[in-house]
Amino acid sequence: MSENNVTLHKQRPADGEPLLKVTGLVKHFPITKGLLRRQVGAVQAVDGLSFDVRAGETLGVVGESGCGKSTMGRLITRLLEPTGGKIEFQGKDISHLNVAGMRPLRRDVQMIFQDPYSSLNPRHTVGTIVGAPFKLQKINPDGGIKKEVQRLLARVGLNPEHYNRYPHEFSGGQRQRIGIARALALNPKLVVADEPVSALDVSIQAQVVNLLDDLQDELGLTYVIIAHDLSVIRHVSDRIAVMYLGKIVELTDRKSLYERPMHPYTRALLSAVPVPDPKRRAKRERILLLGDVPSPISPPSGCRFHTRCWKATVVCTVEEPPLIALKTGHQVACHHPENHEDLKPDDAALPVAVKGGPARTAQPAAVAESVAVAEPAAADKSASAVVDEPAAVAESAGPGLAKPGLDKKLSAKDAKPKQSADTAVAGAKPAAATADEPAGQAGEPERQEGAEGSGGSAGKE
Ligand SMILES: Nc1ncnc2c1ncn2[C@@H]1O[C@H](COP(=O)(O)OP(=O)(O)OP(=O)(O)O)[C@@H](O)[C@H]1O
Ligand code: SF4
Ligand SMILES: [Mg+2]
Repeated sequence: MSENNVTLHKQRPADGEPLLKVTGLVKHFPITKGLLRRQVGAVQAVDGLSFDVRAGETLGVVGESGCGKSTMGRLITRLLEPTGGKIEFQGKDISHLNVAGMRPLRRDVQMIFQDPYSSLNPRHTVGTIVGAPFKLQKINPDGGIKKEVQRLLARVGLNPEHYNRYPHEFSGGQRQRIGIARALALNPKLVVADEPVSALDVSIQAQVVNLLDDLQDELGLTYVIIAHDLSVIRHVSDRIAVMYLGKIVELTDRKSLYERPMHPYTRALLSAVPVPDPKRRAKRERILLLGDVPSPISPPSGCRFHTRCWKATVVCTVEEPPLIALKTGHQVACHHPENHEDLKPDDAALPVAVKGGPARTAQPAAVAESVAVAEPAAADKSASAVVDEPAAVAESAGPGLAKPGLDKKLSAKDAKPKQSADTAVAGAKPAAATADEPAGQAGEPERQEGAEGSGGSAGKE
């Protein structure tokens, strides 16, 4: 794309038309038993998600491991068949389209996977991998597939001369660039990137994040970026959805979420982000979530977060809070939101024995540390503690804890350095096959059901 086009696309639409509309999306994985494979239960991986993705924006999705982020990504790209709910892309219901029906859509919706090692077929050259979407969709670009693939390689910061090399001859960052080139081959509208940088070194993460950012500006892409790293999510997202145990608990723009979070879970996540400034860190309140995330096979009744929430009351245990807009553009699912008037002010608090953990009291670091490590048996498994920033245990609370230093690295983006591809490992021979992947389809086949082999893709930061 020309330099002129780059400037034309610089402004991201603040309130674009929904490109993707998801309503009540459900995915339950059946648990079967015995020879007859009788269903005895279900993993409620995704349980009633509703959200829009607007054209040109980046929607970040964040949450603890196992909360259903990847399942959501695979559902909206239709690599998984939903159990219930509706997915509309550009106004068309694609919830239950079959493989043939999905084929034209594969050009418009691409996915980038977390692991750049397993998502590229080691037996195929880079040229074959990036060119596969053209063959699968029977498209002959101007100048031929080879020329177009070389253009794509150059665009993502790789040497077009490396067309005939194999994936193992590249570093992790370069492999992710190959995945990105493959994703962009058919000029998609929506790119879903599942943890696109979490497998990379911190130094390489910033480069890939910046590449995705540049590509969005140039090509007018719409991204859904899944990550557990709050620094990455903050850097890339226009709006952010926070997930907990198969549900969206908060959805709003980046500024509102980071400055005035309303869901207690979001507050806990944000309080765990390391603060480099010791003075600010000393003043900051720190919330430690104790205990494990409950099983998605039998999630808690009412609000699914009530077993770990320090604000839980009786109503939280029996009545599921709906995801509603408490402010314009700020949706929250909570009976007792933060930074907002209480929606159930008269409800009885849960007995301390159930809630466990001290309430919002500042504690000396030593005590806080012991609360954090006492964990399930000693303290109640469901307890939460609000403490004064115990730096020593910063990494122990909850998921999605940002890596110290990443903010600093990402801020280099503002200077927009020219992307330099990492150095290829020259002269290495093709490795024996370790993963079988259909050409042009990004990997992780073990979890795909109903996946169609068109060009898979790579993600964004
Ligand atoms: N194919 C499958 N069959 C059965 N259960 C599955 C399958 N895929 C995912 N799950 C379960 O669904 C739940 C959500 O998984 P998912 O991979 O979507 O979580 P996640 O938020 O992406 O986690 P992570 O951050 O670790 O990648 C988990 O409990 C997982 O074990
Ligand atoms: S509904 Fe109750 S348990 Fe759930 S997050 Fe809000 S206060 Fe906590
Ligand atoms: Mg995942």
